[in-house]
Amino acid sequence: VASEAGPTYNREPMPTKVWLSTHGRPLDPQEATISVFDRGFLYGDSVYETMRTAGGVVVALGAHLRRLRESAAGIAFELPFSDAELRAAIAQTLAAAGNSDSRLRVMVTRGTGPSITLDSRTAADPVCVVVVSPLVVPTEADYARGISAVLLSREGGVKPGLKTGNYLSNILALRRAHEAGADDAILCNEVGEVAEGATSNLFAYCDGEVHTPPRTSGLLAGITRALVMRLLAEKLEVPVHESTLSPEAVRGADEVLLTSSVRGIMAVTALDGAPVGEGRAGPLALRLRRAYADYLAEVARGDRSD
Ligand SMILES: Cc1ncc(COP(=O)(O)O)c(C=O)c1O
Repeated sequence: VASEAGPTYNREPMPTKVWLSTHGRPLDPQEATISVFDRGFLYGDSVYETMRTAGGVVVALGAHLRRLRESAAGIAFELPFSDAELRAAIAQTLAAAGNSDSRLRVMVTRGTGPSITLDSRTAADPVCVVVVSPLVVPTEADYARGISAVLLSREGGVKPGLKTGNYLSNILALRRAHEAGADDAILCNEVGEVAEGATSNLFAYCDGEVHTPPRTSGLLAGITRALVMRLLAEKLEVPVHESTLSPEAVRGADEVLLTSSVRGIMAVTALDGAPVGEGRAGPLALRLRRAYADYLAEVARGDRSD
């Protein structure tokens, strides 16, 4: 159950280094300021990615940069920064921060206009922001305990398949979950199909097979989701299907898992106030977490291209 301050892994230390395209070098957080007329600030008119490193190497950087560009294309925003420029900015910021492992947020806003207007044709000078902070992940005990969640209907989501700065509907869903005494929210689409978590994708293990909602249910094509599907099929040899899922099917699953780049693979052990399975992380969660740890170790060794 969420305490007032939230679970321990949500208490992040301050970001240590921030790169801004307006400055072209890593800055301390207090120096890193952008205009109040920036459309990312005014309207969430921006796209972003959240990533982590393993052994100092950014996990699946190529896939994240591809998705950043896809999200931008989805809002008719042509990114004026090349992958090489973004990679260089990331490398500089990681080096300046000097953490053993980091959490990264790469964000590009559509820039500012001559006045406050919705008209995005007036936008000029997109700004790229790279925030590097120390990586904080749940403890082993947190993973074993799992989290509680509630199923909620998504309200007025803005293009759920894109990672834009406009996360208000997920922010509000998470607030509703916390008000209900749960740690996280699982969102259903307008026709009642289960789609994804507020900041994660969902997997349900039922009768020896794993199901994850298809993209047509309205979800972000998570990079961890794709990895977990591969690990299930290739390493664990557990059948995995993209299937539309009803709330009842998820409530009745033997195990429910949420996946995302920073939190990794987290079991949902209580759903809508009732235990899932035995009420603690189950055997599939444990096997998957081991396979995921092996994958991160390969990334750290440089055995995986991004
Ligand atoms: C809405 C939503 N779905 C899914 C995910 C998981 O995506 P990934 O595995 O690429 O981090 C996120 C990540 O923050 C998210 O915000």
